[in-house]
Amino acid sequence: METSIRQLQQEIDGFEIRNQKELEAFRLEFTVRKGRIAALFARLKEVAPSERPAVGQLLNALKLSAEAKADEADARFAETAGPAHPAIDISLPGRRSFCGSEHPVQKVLGDMKRIFSAMGFSIATGPELELDEYNFDLLNFPPNHPARDMQDTFFVSRGQEGGDVLLRTHTSPVQVRVMLDQKPPIRVICPGKVYRNEAISARSYCVFHQLEGLYIDKNVSFADLKATIYSFARQMFGTDVKLRFRPSFFPFTEPSAEVDVTCYLCGGKGCRVCKKSGWLEIMGCGMVHPNVMRNCGIDPEEWTGYAFGMGVDRTALLRYKIDDIRLLFENDVRMLAQFSA
Ligand code: DAH
Repeated sequence: METSIRQLQQEIDGFEIRNQKELEAFRLEFTVRKGRIAALFARLKEVAPSERPAVGQLLNALKLSAEAKADEADARFAETAGPAHPAIDISLPGRRSFCGSEHPVQKVLGDMKRIFSAMGFSIATGPELELDEYNFDLLNFPPNHPARDMQDTFFVSRGQEGGDVLLRTHTSPVQVRVMLDQKPPIRVICPGKVYRNEAISARSYCVFHQLEGLYIDKNVSFADLKATIYSFARQMFGTDVKLRFRPSFFPFTEPSAEVDVTCYLCGGKGCRVCKKSGWLEIMGCGMVHPNVMRNCGIDPEEWTGYAFGMGVDRTALLRYKIDDIRLLFENDVRMLAQFSA
């Protein structure tokens, strides 16, 4: 028995513990409950009772020395192991919190709203899901007008009481809602999304943004319209721009015009964007048609007014040199993050 104890002591002394793994192996071999030291203790009953105390002491000494060796190794590794969670590298730079940015369309819309607000226009909104009546009828569209066609309009449900339900194709129905709701004088702009059933390409999309304007008061003339648009264009596109009013047609205005500004990319010399013409179309406008006023309960003998409607997205594309309108609607963070302040 003494020989076994001495042999084991030698083995313990000779066991090299250089890392955690070896420490684990050492414990498994010697100090655990089913280890080799415990096995020797189990054999104590074979020893003659007179010798047991002495052998027992030897065994205890063996056990203590093995435990001391393991504890010493443990302390050694604790000193060099570093922080308790080695997976955390405190020298790494911190993560920035994610901060969104204003969408390019909202930036342009924001500028438009600021300019018109400063001129005394307030903001009105209306539903994107609209009734045929507001989108077309009350705006003086004849029953068979081609704009009502399925090709242009997304109908949601047809033949409902109160007319077909559709996605509004322009912001002009908000004019109607405002006129039905308020007494003149009226001075509002109506920004919002509109929908058209068009082939999707880099230049056109099924949804886009418009900003509508409406001014009704006594003795409002086409000269007021021109002055307002001119002031807007200089603030929006630069003090050097020139304007051109071309006669046009809309069912809800008479007379009607389309407005061009000198191309603010080439200064009017002619480039790829303005198709060498030197002009960019920015809006439709005109004097509110007497029928529209009557439809909304406003006496056209007493009141006159002008209206205009412009696209927002194209300005955003031109201003920020984005060459595909679809990028404005895909919500790709790689694109949007480029507009953070
Ligand atoms: N609603 C027209 C469109 O979507 C734009 C427009 C033209 C609005 C003339 C107006 C206007 O208010 O007077 O094409």
